[in-house]
Amino acid sequence: MADKIRVLLSEEEVNRRISEVAGQISRDYEGKELHLICILKGGVFFTCELAKRLTVPVSLDFMSVSSYGDDTKSSGVVRIVKDLDEPLKDKNVLIVEDIIDSGRTLSYLMEVLKQREPAGIRLCTLLDKPERRVKKQVKVDYTCFTIPDEFVVGYGLDYAQKYRNLPYIGVVEF
Ligand code: IMP
Ligand code: MG
Repeated sequence: MADKIRVLLSEEEVNRRISEVAGQISRDYEGKELHLICILKGGVFFTCELAKRLTVPVSLDFMSVSSYGDDTKSSGVVRIVKDLDEPLKDKNVLIVEDIIDSGRTLSYLMEVLKQREPAGIRLCTLLDKPERRVKKQVKVDYTCFTIPDEFVVGYGLDYAQKYRNLPYIGVVEF
């Protein structure tokens, strides 16, 4: 049976905001090359839309992670399901995520990736749910939208692997 989905951010709003953030990133990295790391699967739509709008030279790599446990039991341990193809040494790295929730995934990932000696590493997210943050040390450099504590789908985000292909961000009305 189909779930009811309420539009939170329309396709136009999302695309307009991605253009703004891409402009800011392009200015910040002017004269440099940028290595984007897309966090699969959720980050894939956002990564494409962002990358298309960047005016600095861009290279792309992909990583897939899965976290263990739930909010009450999570150990903060994240398993790398698919690692990067390329080394990060001396690159200007920008991690591209769909959403930062508890911050556990990114807190772990940042530590792992810093050990690969990039020139610098920053974090860019489509959505941020700060109310849910457990790992307060996670610093987000670029956020498209800060949203309330609601479960959202679309633009890469899923509910039981569905709805990633919605061109807008919606709230599932359970
Ligand atoms: P964190 O480690 O708690 O920050 O988890 C982030 C991950 O949880 C994201 O990359 C998503 O895969 C998933 N997630 C968190 N909130 C939502 C949501 O509202 N909708 C869909 N996935 C979510
Ligand atoms: Mg994700």
